[in-house]
Amino acid sequence: MSQIENVLHENRHFPPPRDFAAKARLGREEDYQRMYKASLEKPDEFWGRIGRELPWMQPFTKVLDWSNAPFAKWFVGGKLNASAVCLDQHVLGPRAHKRAIVWEGEPGDTRTLTYAELHMEVCRFANVLKARGVKKGDRIAIYMPMIPEAAIAMLACARIGAAHSVVFGGFAAHALRERILDGGCTAVITADGSFRRGAVQALKPQVDEAVQGLAQVHTVLVVQRAKNPVDWVKGRDVWYHDLGSQVSVECAPEAMDSEDLLFLLYTSGSTGKPKGIVHTTGGYMVGAYLTTQYVFDLRDEDVFWCTADVGWVTGHTYIVYGPLANGATLVMYEGAPNAPHQGRFWELIDKHRVSVFYTAPTAIRTFMRWGDDVPARYDLSSLRLLGSVGEPINPEAWMWYHRTIGRERCPIVDTWWQTETGSILITPLPGVTSTQPGSATRPFFGIEPAIVDEHGTELGPNQGGYLVLKRPWPSMLRGIWGNEERFKEGYWKKYPGWYFTGDGARKDEKGFYWILGRVDDVINVSGHRLSTMEVESALVAHAQVVEAAVVGRPDAMTGQAICAFVTVGKGETPDDALREALKEHVAHEIGKLARPAEIRFTDALPKTRSGKIMRRLLRDIAAGVETVGDTSTLEDYTILARLRHDED
Ligand code: WTA
Repeated sequence: MSQIENVLHENRHFPPPRDFAAKARLGREEDYQRMYKASLEKPDEFWGRIGRELPWMQPFTKVLDWSNAPFAKWFVGGKLNASAVCLDQHVLGPRAHKRAIVWEGEPGDTRTLTYAELHMEVCRFANVLKARGVKKGDRIAIYMPMIPEAAIAMLACARIGAAHSVVFGGFAAHALRERILDGGCTAVITADGSFRRGAVQALKPQVDEAVQGLAQVHTVLVVQRAKNPVDWVKGRDVWYHDLGSQVSVECAPEAMDSEDLLFLLYTSGSTGKPKGIVHTTGGYMVGAYLTTQYVFDLRDEDVFWCTADVGWVTGHTYIVYGPLANGATLVMYEGAPNAPHQGRFWELIDKHRVSVFYTAPTAIRTFMRWGDDVPARYDLSSLRLLGSVGEPINPEAWMWYHRTIGRERCPIVDTWWQTETGSILITPLPGVTSTQPGSATRPFFGIEPAIVDEHGTELGPNQGGYLVLKRPWPSMLRGIWGNEERFKEGYWKKYPGWYFTGDGARKDEKGFYWILGRVDDVINVSGHRLSTMEVESALVAHAQVVEAAVVGRPDAMTGQAICAFVTVGKGETPDDALREALKEHVAHEIGKLARPAEIRFTDALPKTRSGKIMRRLLRDIAAGVETVGDTSTLEDYTILARLRHDED
């Protein structure tokens, strides 16, 4: 049995509000159909036309070269510079004095940079890098808090043709070191520290530990933010402000080949060491530009806030490159959502009149737990569009987002994509698509997904299977840094010619996609393959549950049995009665088949830093075996210990 059962039934529909559709960039179904059709039937024409909207320094001569698949070349022969796409074109036009970045620190300090100012700061930063000997082709690690210099540093690298490798500032020294080594980075850009949950979180000590004894790293460039004391290695360490005040604020952008490396971004595989995902310049910029424009229905007066950290791909594409390529005003926030109080995000939306808000389901569920009265205290009337990304959003959380944050006015775009895909691939278009809670809906322009079984045979409506992409797209990964085999093996071997996403999904009769989660997480109960997401979704729909993670554990009778880790709401009693009630609830919602064999209560779940539940670890706990593999991305190590302890 190779299919994944589909057990979740969702019949609610939310068409775009009429006034939203009337003003939208794309507001009529026919327009979506026409553009989508054109993008598949005449891809060269479609992508060629979009591609030419960017300011190339030398025009491309060919849209796609797929002759050496799976190694794609997009916009062949073209030259451009990503920082010039984001800055120079706007500075030369009417957006020069438009706000580019509206930043707020956790303590409440703010900074605003217009396009002209951002351009100047990026040039300054680029000249500092040059002064330290950084050159085209180098790889530079960026280990930064959420301050404007994080974006400035990325753009400065791009400006001089160095590739950045941003490592999330919450990672430990060994994770940073591993990434510096793998990418062959020759410099590290960091800060002394930043403000997080009311305290200073130091960054420099992790960098010192990470680069210790590494001859390849000639420079550690330190931006001053928190003014906490730091250790200093003479010759290697440089304060950014010392050099920054000595260099010019003009720096011509390097003409980069469309296929030159723009950045590496590490993503953890299910096993083994992290993979350095390779993104190049032209195709990535086209994908970032187009998706930001259409998915977020971007207009000049919008204030766009993507709450991701720049250390994730979402931060790359939808804080930095996509919004800036479109000349948007973006909000960037340094701190935690509950510092100094749980209303911080809503306060920021209120204060900065945010109109488009993009966040993750894990955050939404946390806000739900904090209660409706928190957002109710703020004026959220500036919002007109909401987005979600990172994992399947359970309908419960979707509905809460819709009612409590969107106040039933704002469409929600549930956007499916991956670090590897570079930009959003399956998503509603907010002026056109009638959304359904839990569905990422339809493919974006130029994307041709399919649901297949083990052998690559396409499945019918509502049959769960593997999600593949049948043709290349501009912002696709170009490889895994230093590991061609792993790239071919991991993404292209299972279904030759098609990209294997690693996700399970189903497509309904209207062609909407419902992502079921990572296929590694699928549970097989008596030959029925169930998606963890659907069982979790049913659990979370129970009034007393706030979060749930479901895994399979070996079972002599059924092959695998369902083990659910459950977090209950404030004031609820996690007892045997509730255990039984939850089992019944799932059996009732989905069917007896999905009835959990075991329910374990926990006050937190192990998650990666980007908020994804680490089911691999839970599987080990459920099976009672020692945890193996990489835990460097685990958010809270103590959770693991606690979950284990609860077994005793
Ligand atoms: C999951 C984040 C369901 C999926 C941009 C994917 C989603 C993985 C969604 C990539 C969504 C992301 N609905 N699942 N809207 N968005 N995912 O590389 O399993 O951090 O393969 O990129 O997250 O995670 P990554």
